[in-house]
Amino acid sequence: MRAYDIIKKKRDGFELSKSEIDFFVNGAVSGEIKDYQVSAFLMAVYFKGMTERETLDFTLAIANSGDKVKTDISGVKADKHSTGGVGDKTSLIISPVIASLGIKVVKMSGRGLGHTGGTIDKLESIKGFKTELPFDKFISIAEKTGLSIIGQTGELAPADKIFYSLRDVTATIDSIPLIASSIMGKKLTADDDVIVLDVKTGSGAFMKTLEQAEELANVMVAIGKGAGKKISAVITDMDSPLGSFIGNALEVKEAIDVLKGKVKNDLYLVSKALAVEILTLSGFGDITACEKAFDSQIESGKAFEKFNEFITEQGGDLTEILSGEYKATYTFQIKSNKSGYLGKLNAENVGVASLILGAGRTKKEDKIDYKAGIVLNKKLGDRVEKGETLATLYSSNENLFRASEEEFLKGVEIIAERVEIKSKTLKFVR
Ligand code: URA
Repeated sequence: MRAYDIIKKKRDGFELSKSEIDFFVNGAVSGEIKDYQVSAFLMAVYFKGMTERETLDFTLAIANSGDKVKTDISGVKADKHSTGGVGDKTSLIISPVIASLGIKVVKMSGRGLGHTGGTIDKLESIKGFKTELPFDKFISIAEKTGLSIIGQTGELAPADKIFYSLRDVTATIDSIPLIASSIMGKKLTADDDVIVLDVKTGSGAFMKTLEQAEELANVMVAIGKGAGKKISAVITDMDSPLGSFIGNALEVKEAIDVLKGKVKNDLYLVSKALAVEILTLSGFGDITACEKAFDSQIESGKAFEKFNEFITEQGGDLTEILSGEYKATYTFQIKSNKSGYLGKLNAENVGVASLILGAGRTKKEDKIDYKAGIVLNKKLGDRVEKGETLATLYSSNENLFRASEEEFLKGVEIIAERVEIKSKTLKFVR
């Protein structure tokens, strides 16, 4: 078999066999197939696409290209994966709720990427919390509490690292089979029984339109089913941020407020929709029973109790956050220059504004200001009077406020008529 023939076959629009796909992916990882050939292959896939069978084989080859996370934990293991957003802290809410109902969460999460946040950075904003643990300890915490979350360790899906870095520089990122196989190739390195995908759509998401998000969700769900998983996807809106707090410690605080039943906003509703998907796929009961279970774990305090237990097991201490110390020293209020209704609050601009304050990284080696970020005083559709505060910025460096305010305001529109606010849960793909 030759890489040249495989590239040519795909370039000419033919379907590749499983052995050709395995040969190509393994060759790329071993270095026998060179970067320029891999790049040409990716471009051929970009133009000619992949059939459902090819996409599944390509994804499995990526998943099998390195280490796999194997556990002997009994019971149903479930995971939720988001394609990335602003203010998206649903993992911090869903994981303890489902763990408190007996579903096991043995999760490896990522860091923030661009203007979107990451669960690991959020957890690291909690004093003492360890996101790097020996594998045995990770598993023993998951066995004991039903929930453990660490950063990615080992050499998981090395093929994806090669493909992703080449896609980044060859204009081949936005291809549905390549995105779907990249995300699912990493997901399938874990041995979860149930996977629920939160596919974001809108200004702050990878997929800008509902149609694109639906297509991606369909392909990923088909891959998951082909790999023997119980899987579904929820398409959720990321045109405006989720919840009202953006930034690491700030997001932990909002997640705690939802877990304690103090806040019943869009964040609560999206978290509930995703958790209910996991619970139904896990065989917990019908939709009504699962919705009731979600509410009752929050109302009874059991969900927060589980969150606290998991944080404590991983060395964390919530005292600082619970006593109100989750905001950076300096504060700045963004005021509205006119009266009306908040008609647009672009998630990407808000995400970048938060990044500018120090809540994210622009380079891999950047240090995060964990208490930096934004609290939205107004949400989409709210009435705003001239001079009223739209948002409050927090940072340890007050010189960053002007640039952050400028970015934030690029994404704001105040309009005369109130817009109808739709649910952020747009569609289910099952
Ligand atoms: N996230 C990934 O992991 N891969 C992609 O290709 C796009 C988003």
